[in-house]
Amino acid sequence: MSDDVTVLIIDNGPLKVMGGISMTDDATGQPVPGSERDPVFLCRCGGSKNKPFCDGTHSKIGFQGAMAAVEAADAAD
Ligand code: FES
Repeated sequence: MSDDVTVLIIDNGPLKVMGGISMTDDATGQPVPGSERDPVFLCRCGGSKNKPFCDGTHSKIGFQGAMAAVEAADAAD
């Protein structure tokens, strides 16, 4: 695992975590399978069927990150 971890917030999409991380399941205390990949893409829309990882559902449900959602609401006023 690298000391240099970078998190990129993808516009209207997941969090891209680069640099290698370790992730542990709180319930089992075991490593989360797949978390050893680099990069990993973490769901922030809540729709993934493969949480904590992104499975592309954000595109299907039209997920908008906070700024896009605020801009859309402002435009609707
Ligand atoms: S961010 Fe991609 S499925 Fe949630």
